[in-house]
Amino acid sequence: MAAQNSQACLVLSNGMKMPQMGLGTWMIKPHEAVAAVKAAIDAGYRHIDTAYVYDNEEQIGQAIKEVIAEGKVKREELFIVTKLAIQYLSPERVREGFYKSLKMLQLDYVDLYLIHSPTAVQYIEDHPLPTNEKGELLIDVDVDYVDTWKEMEKLVDEGLTRSIGVSNFNEKQIERVLHVAKHKPVNNQIELNPYFIRQQLVSFCQSKGIVVTSYSSLGAPDKASEGGPDILSDPVVKAMGEKYNRSPAQILLRYPVNRGCAVIPKSLNPEHMKENMKIFEFELSAEDVKSLDDLNINLSQLKKFWITFNDHPHYPFA
Ligand SMILES: NC(=O)c1ccc[n+]([C@@H]2O[C@H](COP(=O)([O-])OP(=O)(O)OC[C@H]3O[C@@H](n4cnc5c(N)ncnc54)[C@H](OP(=O)(O)O)[C@@H]3O)[C@@H](O)[C@H]2O)c1
Repeated sequence: MAAQNSQACLVLSNGMKMPQMGLGTWMIKPHEAVAAVKAAIDAGYRHIDTAYVYDNEEQIGQAIKEVIAEGKVKREELFIVTKLAIQYLSPERVREGFYKSLKMLQLDYVDLYLIHSPTAVQYIEDHPLPTNEKGELLIDVDVDYVDTWKEMEKLVDEGLTRSIGVSNFNEKQIERVLHVAKHKPVNNQIELNPYFIRQQLVSFCQSKGIVVTSYSSLGAPDKASEGGPDILSDPVVKAMGEKYNRSPAQILLRYPVNRGCAVIPKSLNPEHMKENMKIFEFELSAEDVKSLDDLNINLSQLKKFWITFNDHPHYPFA
């Protein structure tokens, strides 16, 4: 019998339901991915977030195949998200990028397909972030993500993805897409946590019926914050955990959920996965959400990564 799943869902502007909690999979290595996805399904997750560049789609597809074959879940109960890599943003490459993901996931369709970032790089086979001999990123200044969007829409028309959206887009970039869109973006996946609250962008997206997904909600402790502040040990977050009798991670994951966003914490640890799912058992008061908002320092934990795109015409933080 298929396992029951009682977690909250957000309704997208096309009427689809997206589970508010998903499993993030960046940095989950291929040999870890099958076990991670299976543990997440057992913990009640139905939303899995991956991307071509995470290099684990094949194993995620394998895990999906297995949990369906084991009768734990039906395909239609799952919400699978993947992303168009930035070396495939030029319109003539979109389909190729999409089919690479679909084939590796071993699926007939995905639920949500996102443009990973508005910042195109040059296409060089097998180089996700191609650089020259000096190590400088080979950006592609000629690709306009609006043209990419028109190709993304064809994938919806053909039933290859149920919905489409963007990631790392700012207000102006979303406006430009909305201006031409036949199928509106249903989602913008962005970095969001109390050190980087993105109030204006979140309000803008919500006013346009675009659901926001928060990534690095825990401050991406295992990679990006080298030397930076660790939000999981922030005294305000810790004190709030004590007040609600919850862990700091649960407070940080509940924060975007209170703001109407989806969350996709990465985890390899089945105990963390279960703990994270329990954020639907409590709510933060408006006052406590405000206290977390007040921690804002406009700090992207992925700053080091974004710096390489500083000169890109579509750099989203300009
Ligand atoms: N669209 C984009 O450009 C973009 C960029 C970045 C991320 N993302 C997506 O967002 C996902 C999440 O973001 P992220 O990977 O940057 O980092 P994150 O979710 O903020 O942090 C992941 C880290 O938190 C730990 N963790 C998870 N649950 C915990 C808990 N209950 N208590 C303590 N530690 C816990 C994990 O360790 P354990 O494994 O030990 O649990 C892992 O080290 C990514 O995996 C990816 O799917 C998208």
